[in-house]
Amino acid sequence: MSGAVEQVIAGWDGEDVLLRYDRPTGAWIVIAVHSMARGPAGGGTRMKAYPSLAATVEDATRLAQAMTLKWALSQLPFGGGKTVISVPGPLDTEARRGLLTRYGELLASLRGRVVTGPDVGTSPADMDVIHTTGAPHVFARTPAAGGAGDSGPPTAIGVFAAIETTCETLFGDPSPRGKSVVVQGAGSVGERLIALLREAGADVAFSEVAPQRIHHFRDGLGLRFVAPEHLWFTACDILAPCALGGVLTPGTIAALRCRAVVGSANNQLASPQDAALLRDRGILFAPDYVTSLGGSMAIVGQEMLGWSAIQAEAKVRETVATTLAEVYARAERTGQLTTEAAMAIAAERTTAVSK
Ligand code: PHE
Repeated sequence: MSGAVEQVIAGWDGEDVLLRYDRPTGAWIVIAVHSMARGPAGGGTRMKAYPSLAATVEDATRLAQAMTLKWALSQLPFGGGKTVISVPGPLDTEARRGLLTRYGELLASLRGRVVTGPDVGTSPADMDVIHTTGAPHVFARTPAAGGAGDSGPPTAIGVFAAIETTCETLFGDPSPRGKSVVVQGAGSVGERLIALLREAGADVAFSEVAPQRIHHFRDGLGLRFVAPEHLWFTACDILAPCALGGVLTPGTIAALRCRAVVGSANNQLASPQDAALLRDRGILFAPDYVTSLGGSMAIVGQEMLGWSAIQAEAKVRETVATTLAEVYARAERTGQLTTEAAMAIAAERTTAVSK
């Protein structure tokens, strides 16, 4: 439950929250700038319906905070930011284009303080539209428009590396071969992750809400489908939440029958204290700002630092694997939660850069 907008903003430790009401569509645009300590505020643009403005602002602020950690862990010169656009319902093509154009103009007026890329509900084609306004650093445009394309596939590569590190820690062997993995969400990250896991010989099942995707993966590919209402108590080695955040609550955590949670969704914990509930149940939690840093890292590396797609993949794999191994080792050594260990490592990397 989110409080009032005032409470959400006043209780947040970030820098700025910008609100714009888009009258033609009735959408609210919320730009959250968590920290510009390491550079411009960067993060994706999420578009979906929210129950209230407070819930929209709460999601934007939490997502921006996660981006601060991702950029620091990736050692890239950005600070955490995020835009959340709360739409009243589905928009037709024209209305959507108008909204994205007005949003792009708003970004352009911020003169490079806020940079963006795709996220849940937006695509590289949407980034092309935003970019036409002159907004700087619109990442992950389509290859036809000169961008590196979708950030889902490189995100999945990072999650797969995180699963290998987790298997190594739990079973002494990084290979997920023969391990059961349940992937929640067969979207742009989940789809690619499922393919990587199958290639590696894992026993993969998936959960999904979109009928077309259920049909494709269950009936087309023959994968085991887990109905959403059974997801949280389905026995497996690894549960991979790759849909929306806030899924790990005291209720779902009590039901879990897995050894580890390793997925790409941002902010999987409904609240930070829930990490302790996972530990008490003996479930290893891979912090999501470590597992999911591959998308933004690979795209920015290719578009700004001249990496090839192959180099970007290798960097993502290496960064996620070494960072997560460090997180697990530190948590084990100090008794910290894995989320606390990851934040401590991010803080060290931030200091290392600014020195
Ligand atoms: N959606 C990405 C994330 O949550 C954000 C992003 C993608 C930023 C691509 C830049 C480029 O990490």
